[in-house]
Amino acid sequence: MTLLALDHHLDPGSLAEQMARDVAAGLVWTPRTLPPKYFYDAAGSVLFDQITRVPEYYPTRTEKALLEAHVAEISEISGAVTLMELGSGTSEKTRLLLRTLHDAGTLKRFVPFDVDPAILTEASTAVASEYPGLEVAPVVGDFEKHLMQLPRGERRLLAFLGSTIGNLDPDQRAAFLNGVRGTLEQGDFFLLGTDLVKSPERLVAAYDDAQGVTAAFNKNVLRVLNRDLDADFDVDAFEHVAVWDAENEWIEMRLRSTRAQSVRVGRIGLDVELEQGEEIRTEISSKFRRAAVTQELARAGLEITHWWTDPANDFALSLSRPV
Ligand code: SAH
Ligand code: TRP
Repeated sequence: MTLLALDHHLDPGSLAEQMARDVAAGLVWTPRTLPPKYFYDAAGSVLFDQITRVPEYYPTRTEKALLEAHVAEISEISGAVTLMELGSGTSEKTRLLLRTLHDAGTLKRFVPFDVDPAILTEASTAVASEYPGLEVAPVVGDFEKHLMQLPRGERRLLAFLGSTIGNLDPDQRAAFLNGVRGTLEQGDFFLLGTDLVKSPERLVAAYDDAQGVTAAFNKNVLRVLNRDLDADFDVDAFEHVAVWDAENEWIEMRLRSTRAQSVRVGRIGLDVELEQGEEIRTEISSKFRRAAVTQELARAGLEITHWWTDPANDFALSLSRPV
């Protein structure tokens, strides 16, 4: 098997520094905010994988069914030699693309790209042993910063699944899509998964499951800060909150302090006084409409060639190409 060593673009020192800067800025903003990429340490990645299996979290199964239904077409249209995946996580759904592109005889290389080296190593090792002839070249990086680390080459398919794009705010999204466009050349394709606007009840349930897995995932960010920034959040004194913001059409995840607490973030010498009931915003998950996705891609110089959705219009996969 051909498994290349992790191509690491996040050196631990600069990652810790960036985390310190982001947290220092975010915790003193109004409203207080924590940046979401710090959810995904090894424990966070395991919890996210569990979220994808809770009954209320429909996006993963819906997107998987869409991939099953359209993978043959995606393979034929793209004729991909290189499959690259941003925010790849376990690359579980991507197995469908790998299988079909492999059987079609075009695929030579798989490039999973993620911030979490632990999940990346696990997924790359598994894929490399499943496909002995495939070159697996994992990249550890931040897709808001390191897209230029993606390998060049002919006929590349860049996949970004799970509606992870919805975790970026509109400005970040525009910058990200410009970055994607910048890395693509004629003959390449971009496969994007977007969760669609639907009833607030179903959306809130998907981000506040009855088993409490999403709550544990959300609180994990505090454990990451306690460990990596020498903070002393009392994790058990926070509750998970998911609200639908109808104006922005996004789900907002928050952590609410159930009591007054003073938190010391040792590494950055920051003291934060949280009142009882005070909330910290940890994540948004934007929901999309077809017209807006088409427009945002077009602004970045990407033209949608295919739009696939399930009968209930819950989730969409789009295929686009650089213009
Ligand atoms: N693609 C998978 C996983 C989605 S969860 C699926 O569809 O189920 C989001 C993934 O993106 C996680 O694996 C997380 O580690 C990664 N991620 C989050 N922010 C990132 C960033 N800024 N750069 C690179 N990867 C990121
Ligand atoms: N991309 C996923 C989504 O927005 C990430 C996610 C699912 C998530 N559940 C979460 C992020 C809970 C934070 C908290 O659907």
